[in-house]
Amino acid sequence: MIKSFGNKTKVAVFISGRGTNLKSLFYFSKKKKSKVEICIVISNKKYAKGLNFAKKQNIKFQTYTFKNNLKDELKVLQILKKKNINLICLAGFMKILSKEFIKRFKGKIINIHPSLLPKYKGLDTHNRAINNNDKYSGCTVHYVTPKLDSGKIILQRKVKIFKNDNAKSLKKRILKQEHKIYPKALKMILN
Ligand code: GAR
Repeated sequence: MIKSFGNKTKVAVFISGRGTNLKSLFYFSKKKKSKVEICIVISNKKYAKGLNFAKKQNIKFQTYTFKNNLKDELKVLQILKKKNINLICLAGFMKILSKEFIKRFKGKIINIHPSLLPKYKGLDTHNRAINNNDKYSGCTVHYVTPKLDSGKIILQRKVKIFKNDNAKSLKKRILKQEHKIYPKALKMILN
């Protein structure tokens, strides 16, 4: 369970790209009785599309180069501390955080992954599920630990793979479910 300051949990969302999961988390945070406040968006890509959304919604955002060592991440840790962040949501963040960083936010970093973990950790999940003739793929929200895509699972949703699916069509259907389960998972861990 995540402890919060005041009555809202202060969240930082880390992105690298489009930011559609960021959007779904943001709209969730704006719901009546929401216990979540998205205080900052952090990106490792200066031109991540999701930053336009942050700008439009007046969410503070920063870009950093993440080089997977604590020295480079210290600046990020500083701003998270300054903003009293008590939960980090990785939402399409394609960098691997250092062990030390994860330790400092132990139990307070969650991620959404486009597969039914423990299957298909890492990249190219949709192609791998199709090529393996799986009947289902899906998405998973899980805690982040130093071992890639291996932390405790919070919530998963199955998505059927059709015969005529390709990575693009499957990805689209899974993404739709991601937008549903990420806020739901947040609700679960904050209640
Ligand atoms: C999502 O499908 C997310 O599950 C995936 O990147 C996409 C980001 O989309 N994350 C990973 O693959 C992490 N290993 P978005 O930028 O539109 O939210």
